[in-house]
Amino acid sequence: MRISANFSILLLSGLFSFATAQATINADTLHLSSFGEDFKWGTACAAYQIEGAWNSDGKGVSIWDEFTHTKGNIHANENGDVAVDFYHRYKEDIRLHKEMNFDVFRFSISWTRIFPDGVGQINPAGVQFYHGVIDECIAQGVEPWITLYHWDLPQNLQEQGGWTNREIIDWFSAYTQFCANEYGDKVKNWMVMNEPAGFVGLGYMMGYHAPGEKGISNFLKATHYTCLAMAESGRILRSTVNNANIGSTFSCSPVESYKGKSKNSRAVAKLDALLNRLFIEPSLGLGYPYDGFSALRKIEKHMEEGDAEKLKFEFDFIGVQNYFRVVAKRHLWPPVLWAKQIDSKKRSVPVNEMGFEIYPEGIYQILKQLGEYEGVREIIVTENGVCVKDSLENGRVHDQSRIDFFKAYLSNVLRAKNEGVPVNGYFVWSLTDNFEWSEGFEPRFGLVYVDYETLERAVKDSGFWFAKELAPR
Ligand code: GAL
Repeated sequence: MRISANFSILLLSGLFSFATAQATINADTLHLSSFGEDFKWGTACAAYQIEGAWNSDGKGVSIWDEFTHTKGNIHANENGDVAVDFYHRYKEDIRLHKEMNFDVFRFSISWTRIFPDGVGQINPAGVQFYHGVIDECIAQGVEPWITLYHWDLPQNLQEQGGWTNREIIDWFSAYTQFCANEYGDKVKNWMVMNEPAGFVGLGYMMGYHAPGEKGISNFLKATHYTCLAMAESGRILRSTVNNANIGSTFSCSPVESYKGKSKNSRAVAKLDALLNRLFIEPSLGLGYPYDGFSALRKIEKHMEEGDAEKLKFEFDFIGVQNYFRVVAKRHLWPPVLWAKQIDSKKRSVPVNEMGFEIYPEGIYQILKQLGEYEGVREIIVTENGVCVKDSLENGRVHDQSRIDFFKAYLSNVLRAKNEGVPVNGYFVWSLTDNFEWSEGFEPRFGLVYVDYETLERAVKDSGFWFAKELAPR
């Protein structure tokens, strides 16, 4: 009796490991050709992190200019005044992008280059700058993908409350309309926002990012107005740009219970609602995720008649940006949330230079989770990457650990794709090293190394790896 019971357990576990082995893709032998011909390969970047020229040619002041110029906000008091000078070097950078055989380039428009005060007067030199970038992409056979808002709100609008003022819906709509009219003939791929949970949470709740605001009331207002503005912007793009492919990008992390304990399940549900569901579900017509975190009902205080309908917009794709996993436990602080994220250091797991856990299976888990939504038609990984302590030696950067990172994460993306998740593209964060928000220039995420003294560029080994993998056959 005992023997046969053991035998069936053995058999079952054998079957199970066989099933797992079948599903897992070997990172060491991965080739990017396995993703198929139609899969999009790109790199991503954001205006404030690369452009520099912060006050050139009529550009207005953004909240990031203001925030970085205030002492104590940023590591070593660094700022993006010059950044990597993409403003003057974009031709070289787009050429490097092309040489690595990427066919899609994701960049953002700086609102204050177009409208220095956020609304009203237009700055023709700024408008022309983005024509230059778009034309250069097209000339080099690279498809431009535009993000409308990657965190650099005009300071003038922040002085009127920024994302906590309902008027932002009109301000953002006017900006969207202008960009759609101006660039819509040349650019078909648009992302409305970059990581709303990031800029609302860090900028309006925790004060860690610009504009440095704190508090629940700011957070709830900014959440609702951001969701409304995002859907409205989508509608404007839809009605203005012929054959537009419209998405928005979201920071997403799988959330797990600390030590797998069931007593943490409510903490897990709350963090999942805040980090992964809050900004996606309203557009899908599912409303805010009150079932995961009932305190979110307070958003209703800021809702007007008709808002529930206005929150909906059918995006063509969802941009997923995954950097780490979140491990949560029940906790006595902070009140209302009663949950805490366990630091990766405490869990003795591999981390990158910013302390983010390196957990390749996390991207598989989150892709599977998002693939479950009926309304999600297509997913593009619009950011994924790792910061490494790179050093330039004789013109080369040997970043094997970054190559290993990409192989491991990409094999998990492929696994999700093979299991039917509609994921059709992957954008590396980032093309070049750049200004990493509050962390300044220390974390290097690029495929291209930038010497911050001379601003000279050098393709890293990881860039050569992509060039080889993506070479036309
Ligand atoms: C994302 C953000 C990017 C970049 C990246 C690396 O959250 O969208 O701008 O900073 O993180 O940490």
